[in-house]
Parts: sequence; structure tokens; C-alpha cells
Amino acid sequence: MQVSSAQYSDRAVFAWLVAGSQVLGVTAVVLTGVWMGHYHGGFAWDGTQQEFNLHPLCMVLGLVFLQGDAILVYRVFHNEPKKNVKMLHGMIHLLALIISIVGMVAVFDSHRAANYADMYSLHSWCGLITIVLFCLQWVMGLLFFLFPVASSWLRATYLPIHVFCGLVLLALSVGSSLLGITEKLFFSIMSSYSRFPPEGVLANVLGVLLVCFGVLLCYMITNEQYRRPRNPEEESLAVHFKTLTEGGSPTEP
Ligand code: HEM
Repeated sequence: MQVSSAQYSDRAVFAWLVAGSQVLGVTAVVLTGVWMGHYHGGFAWDGTQQEFNLHPLCMVLGLVFLQGDAILVYRVFHNEPKKNVKMLHGMIHLLALIISIVGMVAVFDSHRAANYADMYSLHSWCGLITIVLFCLQWVMGLLFFLFPVASSWLRATYLPIHVFCGLVLLALSVGSSLLGITEKLFFSIMSSYSRFPPEGVLANVLGVLLVCFGVLLCYMITNEQYRRPRNPEEESLAVHFKTLTEGGSPTEP
């Protein structure tokens, strides 16, 4: 297949955008680690504050960075066989799910050990909704696409819903993280926050990076020119579906 110079420059811009998103994502994960490691005593699994520290790290790594990258694989591996890309998409999501569950267990466990109340904050409500929906989306994706139990018509109908829900989930994850960051700052540096202490600035920068990561990903996913070209099988499914919805016969030319 001939690649036009316009397509070539689109791919070059896309490569820069992907690189930018990775720099933003990795920096966000590293900053979360530095925040919890340097300012809050590091990490452990013993029911203390150090166990809580795993919560932000796992959530930013799993539910924001890895979830974002799992969505991105369809755009990045443009010309790979769809089956392989689907597997990779499912596997990165599985990793994101496992890491997020570790992060959730860490926060509930450390709350229980310190005798703190559960689920009282807006952050915890939004966070729990996000993780429950994320699990649901993962199971639905598995059933519909990885081990397709549904008919091709149902799959074609569900696909745009799945893509839309994926972006909503990424937005919810970034939003929940911002609420969590603000809450943590209020617990730890409430009295000095307004005087721009280094911890406050670091956490604010982390929040801005997460927003930029989310926005950049949404741009790349929703931009038509970065979409994966349909293979002949998908093309015929689309024609079939269009004919059915427009009331014609699928066998018409
Ligand atoms: C999408 C990512 C996140 C999700 C789904 C999430 C979810 C949750 C949930 C469900 C709780 C309640 C635990 C309980 O009641 O025992 C919680 C607590 C907490 N989280 Fe997160 N969290 C996320 C990211 C973050 C981040 C990035 C921070 C930043 C430091 C953070 C800070 C906190 C704090 C301080 C608490 C304890 C106070 C509270 O219960 O609201 N979270 N989180």
C-alpha cells in the first residue's frame, strides 16, 4: 500500500504526541513515588502510613498511566494484526486492574489498621465508582472482544459504547486522582499550603501532568486521522451493518 506524504507527516506528528504522552505519564508516576517516598516515609505493607503510600502510586500507575497506554495501543500498533493488538490491550488492562486492586487494598487496609472511617469523602465515592466501572468495562471487553460470545452485530453495536466508556473512565480516573491529591495535601500540609511549600508545588505539578496526559490521550483517540485503518473483514462488517440499519438487504451490491 502506498503511503502519501500527508499520511507520513500525520504519523510523524502522532509519534511525537505519543512520545509526549509517555514523558507526561512516566513523570507523573515518578513524581507520585517521590512525593510518597521523600515526604511521607516510603513504602511498606504493614498497615501503617507507608502502606497507605502505595495507594496513590498504584492508582496513578494502574488506573491512569497503564489504562491510558492500554487504550493507546490500537492507535500505536496501526498495522499489526488486530488479534495481537487486542491481546496486548487486554493484557495491559489486566496489569492496570491488578495494580489498582493492590492500591485499593492498601488504602482500606491502612484505614482499618488506623481505625479511620471508610468511604466518607467525595474522593472515595468517585474513586470507588471509577474502580467498579473499570472492572465492569474489563469484563465486558473480555466477553465481547477477547472471547467473543456475542454476535458480530452485537459486537459492532457495543464497540462505540466501549470506546466511549474507556475515555470516560480515563477522565474519571484523572478526576478521582485530582480529588485524592487535594485531600492528601489538606491532611498533610493544610496550614502551610498557601505559602507554596515544595510538597504542595510538587503535588500541584503532578495534578497538572495528569490532566495533560488525559487531554493528550483523548485528543489522540478521538482524532480521525490517527484511527486504525479497517481491515477487509471489518469493512465488510461495517457495510453489512450500514445496509441493515438503512433498511436494505445485506446482499445488495
Ligand atoms: C483513580 C485513582 C484513585 C482511586 C480509584 C481512589 C480510590 C480511593 C478510595 C475508594 C478511597 C477510600 C478508602 C477508604 O474509605 O478506606 C480512597 C482514599 C484515599 N485516597 Fe484515593 N484513589 C485514587 C487516587 C488517589 C490519589 C492519586 C491520591 C493522592 C494522594 C489519593 C489519596 C487518597 C487519600 C488521602 C485517601 C484517604 C481519605 C479518604 O478516604 O478519602 N487517592 N481512595
